[in-house]
Amino acid sequence: MSKKRILSGMRPTGRLHLGHLVGALNNWAALQNEYECFFMVADWHALMSEYENSKIIKDMIFDNVADWLACGIDPEKSVIFIQSHVPEHLELHMVFSALTPLGWLERCPTYKEQMRELKDRHIATYAFLGYPVLQAADISLYKAGVVPVGEDQLPHLELTREIVRKFNGMYQEVFPEAAPLLTKVPRLLGLDGRKMSKSYNNFIALSDAPEQITKKVQGMFTDPMRVRKTDPGHPDKCNVHHYFSVFLPEMKEKVDHWCRYAELGCTECKKILGEHLISFLAPIREKREGYLGDKKRLESILESGRQKASGVARSTLKEVREAVGLH
Ligand code: TRP
Repeated sequence: MSKKRILSGMRPTGRLHLGHLVGALNNWAALQNEYECFFMVADWHALMSEYENSKIIKDMIFDNVADWLACGIDPEKSVIFIQSHVPEHLELHMVFSALTPLGWLERCPTYKEQMRELKDRHIATYAFLGYPVLQAADISLYKAGVVPVGEDQLPHLELTREIVRKFNGMYQEVFPEAAPLLTKVPRLLGLDGRKMSKSYNNFIALSDAPEQITKKVQGMFTDPMRVRKTDPGHPDKCNVHHYFSVFLPEMKEKVDHWCRYAELGCTECKKILGEHLISFLAPIREKREGYLGDKKRLESILESGRQKASGVARSTLKEVREAVGLH
């Protein structure tokens, strides 16, 4: 039996951090053996929010792909490509746009949230409203049946299915209905206890140098009730403790005890975590630098990804044109 196909993507808008690693990359790496995987750099999607500062996109494409590879995404197993290098994404986006009612997009909770949250960017644009339509095209172009995403993306998957249903019903059965793949992953909060986000600058990047990691961990949010070292702490309210449970689970109980009985201060606890994160990230950083120092190799990985993706995209688009009657 042939393997089921997966497509997932990330927007190249900033450096990748621990949240991307535990929330997506580890999972992508694990799925590679079981599925036929397409991993896409969503640069058109990045442009929709970053068009005023579009120069960063290109740098981040290389930067992010280097991180993917360093975290075990394997170009021998998976197709790694850049969305804008495969023009069929935009063609299918056009066809889907024609049949997507405005109301579906205006009602989308991610759209409403972003309009509220991203106040510093002018995203009341034509393209941004259609963000999920392009995502539906990304998924459908490869007839992916499975899409590993975070919970925040569920409304986009729902819209994808609605669009596909409408297309299949109106023209011909061309597309499968894609199902989200929600793997249980630990949700990492930012260093300050808020949601981890580029705009809050509250994360440890996969590319951070050891000194930066030490400094960031020392500044982490802990149990606010534990003012003095002699005060007993509440590990369940401590973000450092949560990081222990994700990155050093074998020490979790020990740390729990130290904290509750005030046997160890927060500074010492952070020191252990910081040192662990430094050695944990060292091989990733080294591999990433290796890829970034060899642009030719990165380019050739992306070119071979483009070719494989294009082959599938072209054949789907041919079917689409025939189904619609524009051929
Ligand atoms: N919208 C996704 C995000 O912000 C990125 C993305 C674009 C994507 N196209 C996709 C994810 C297709 C899955 C499938 O995370």
